[in-house]
Amino acid sequence: MFLRSLLALLNFTTALALTVPPSDQLIRRETLAEAAHNARIIVKDVKTGTMASVFPEESDLAGRPFAMMEYHAPCYSNGSLTIILMPISRSTQNIFNDPGHHVAYTVSMPTEGIRSPMSRGRVALMGNVTTLRDISKDESRELSKCYTSYHPDSKYWLPGNEDSPHVSIWARLDIDNIYYVGGFGDVHYIGPIPVDLYAKSDKSVINDYYFDKQTAWEDDLSQVVF
Ligand SMILES: *[C@@H]1O[C@H](CO)[C@@H](O)[C@H](O)[C@H]1NC(C)=O
Ligand SMILES: *[C@@H]1O[C@H](CO)[C@@H](O)[C@H](O)[C@H]1NC(C)=O
Repeated sequence: MFLRSLLALLNFTTALALTVPPSDQLIRRETLAEAAHNARIIVKDVKTGTMASVFPEESDLAGRPFAMMEYHAPCYSNGSLTIILMPISRSTQNIFNDPGHHVAYTVSMPTEGIRSPMSRGRVALMGNVTTLRDISKDESRELSKCYTSYHPDSKYWLPGNEDSPHVSIWARLDIDNIYYVGGFGDVHYIGPIPVDLYAKSDKSVINDYYFDKQTAWEDDLSQVVF
């Protein structure tokens, strides 16, 4: 609650000027370790993101960026994401045609009802996509279970579903670079997050200290209607 009031106060002050110098007694800035953990929470709680890819050489739009909403599911403890590729999708075509299979995937806290959406956390996960064409039935079942727990509606187009209107393929986004903006820089961390820190910043880092922070954030997320 204390944190909440503090944040409310800060949102008020930051709305007036972005660079209000924090009073050292009052304000503690989000640390890098907290940022890594908060980024994991955002990616777990917010189930969709924006995937950016680049048009390939042979395209009329070669080299230009393309970004569109996608689903993700945080099915790996190291932070890699499960995604479903569909050859009919422009993002998938760009990924397939890029030799490095690179994307940037941004997940943002919901902003509805928030006075200053700029105060909300967002994280860009950059990496490459590996298709999982030759996985066993068991692995595929595990992925389905995990993915549908985040996206129940996806059952209609899961890979292997013969009734699916489109061909779909399991894939994994491995992350090699992360850029995080926690909100306004006077109280939030803004900058890169090392991938190895992110990889171990899920449940395993929860001690009392992080737990407080996490409840504060979950509280924050629960104010918003998804
Ligand atoms: C993704 O990047 C990693 C490390 O940079 C590399 O080993 C791997 O082969 C790449 N995967 C694909 C599908 O390009
Ligand atoms: C994360 O874990 C998955 C599943 O074990 C593995 O395939 C992938 O290579 C790992 N990603 C990185 C970046 O180490």
